[in-house]
Amino acid sequence: MGERESRLRFDTKLIHGGTAPGPYGATKTPIVQASAFAYNSAEELEDIFKGRAIGQVYTRIGNPTLESLEKRLAVIEDGIAAIVTASGMAAITTAVMAVVRSGDEILSSSSLFGGTYSLFRDTLSNYGVKARFVDPTDLAALEAGINDATRLIFVESIGNPKMDVPDIAAFAALARKNGIPLMVDATVSTPYLARVKDLGADIVIHSTSKFINGTANSIGGAIIDSGSFDWNSPKFPHFEPFYRKYRNFAFTARTRKLIHKDFGACAAPFNSFLLGEGLETLALRMERHCSNAMRLAQFLDAHEKVSWVNYPGLPDSPFFEVATRQFKGRFGGLLTFGLADKASAFRLINGLELAKNLANIGDTKTLVIHPASTICADYTPEVKALMGVSEELVRVSVGIEDIEDILEDFGASLDRL
Ligand SMILES: Cc1ncc(COP(=O)(O)O)c(C=O)c1O
Repeated sequence: MGERESRLRFDTKLIHGGTAPGPYGATKTPIVQASAFAYNSAEELEDIFKGRAIGQVYTRIGNPTLESLEKRLAVIEDGIAAIVTASGMAAITTAVMAVVRSGDEILSSSSLFGGTYSLFRDTLSNYGVKARFVDPTDLAALEAGINDATRLIFVESIGNPKMDVPDIAAFAALARKNGIPLMVDATVSTPYLARVKDLGADIVIHSTSKFINGTANSIGGAIIDSGSFDWNSPKFPHFEPFYRKYRNFAFTARTRKLIHKDFGACAAPFNSFLLGEGLETLALRMERHCSNAMRLAQFLDAHEKVSWVNYPGLPDSPFFEVATRQFKGRFGGLLTFGLADKASAFRLINGLELAKNLANIGDTKTLVIHPASTICADYTPEVKALMGVSEELVRVSVGIEDIEDILEDFGASLDRL
């Protein structure tokens, strides 16, 4: 990153950071909707394959439209490199599989998005990788969860749907002390609330399908390498050839050249274009997501038919202090609240006219869901409890509509309960 670019403020970086002029002076990244790239001579293609020359080969391995988004995300997160993937789950799977091998353990926060929980508990266990789940607010339990086999610490910057806020700097200190990388899924906080690299994240994950895209028109994911972890370690012998050749780019090199290439969960050029379009307005949208979520949280908190509200921006939230410190007084666009029981939660959702009942977050539109009967329906009551999902809970991804319309929608449906 150039010195002038690194000095740009966050909102400006979202628009200009990592961008380059397109052909014909186009101010937009061209959508290179091509699977493969041709060269005039066999020698040229050999040079590219052998790393002696730079060039595109095949879109699963790289593509100019994907590269443009990767450069922009790396600048925004102050990383040394980024890899975009087909989805947020593809980003998590690819990044985790790049770090761990059979026999290794992951120390993970127990407060996770359901897909990640299932990947760690059900899928990776079949390949000899064990995950230990620990309450992310219990630092003593976290420390006790580390053993000789631990190779990765994983946490969400704001748990979805539990809405708990871990102290990421404390996670980072634990990771450093034990010579293990810290991977942070920052989907819910987004780079607008915090650049988690600054809190000590070695690898940053985003489901770009959510707030980064912003208008729910494409699925995507990203892995950003902070360049902060020392891979030259006896704990990571599988990084040795990559460290020797690429030094602090060892994680990106192993991920891109081996795991990402082999698993093949590459992003699509058109989706990457749309995700880049979303990125430009992230700050403006997040400002409104945050202020609308705060207003709705306060409204619900004061409502007699609402039993409880979980939003880290409410002063009586157990996460208010750490969220204030970490996110500089901004608390995001997601909240959960409880009604009397499941039947009331269903009646509330059925009575909403503006808010959409669907399984997504981070859209411009206000979205609601009853997680216990949908995205978490497959889990036992014990696992649901671990995820903070109860029968009376409703999750809201607060949109950027006029807040008075959102309040009227929830108010009218609550009145009809
Ligand atoms: C925190 C978090 N991480 C990862 C994912 C997975 O992302 P995707 O749906 O893009 O695969 C989600 C999806 O909801 C999520 O909320």
